[in-house]
Amino acid sequence: MMDYKEIIAQYDGKAGGIIEAYHALLREFSYLPEEAIAEAARVFKLSTAEAYGIATFYSMFSVEARGKNVVRICESAPCHVAGAADVVAALERELGIKMGESTADGKFALEFTECVGQCQATPVITVNGKPYLDVSPAQIPAIIAEYK
Ligand code: FES
Repeated sequence: MMDYKEIIAQYDGKAGGIIEAYHALLREFSYLPEEAIAEAARVFKLSTAEAYGIATFYSMFSVEARGKNVVRICESAPCHVAGAADVVAALERELGIKMGESTADGKFALEFTECVGQCQATPVITVNGKPYLDVSPAQIPAIIAEYK
């Protein structure tokens, strides 16, 4: 794994460097560690508050530590009606965590999402943005196993 300092240094002096550096950090860590934000502030000559501001402005940049594989389940009405609650229960059972939590080994995070535009095949979950359609609780262990 690359050190956050090495990652940030690659974008030093480049236009839009801090944004590019944040993207690269997220690919490596899946969140923005606090010390990396402080380092980015130093390298890009911003105050720590400014570097934080940029991080949180891009709301996709999660500043909280969370699991590397982000599992989301759609909680909009069509998926809800189609049995999303049973899939939620299966995900929580399989990963041993509750919605909104990450596994202790840092491998998985479990989150709700709004409709992901796949309502023709509800319920829907996504793993790292990849949709799985018509999901039943029985399929959950196999889907999760793909990412272990
Ligand atoms: S309601 Fe779940 S994908 Fe649209």
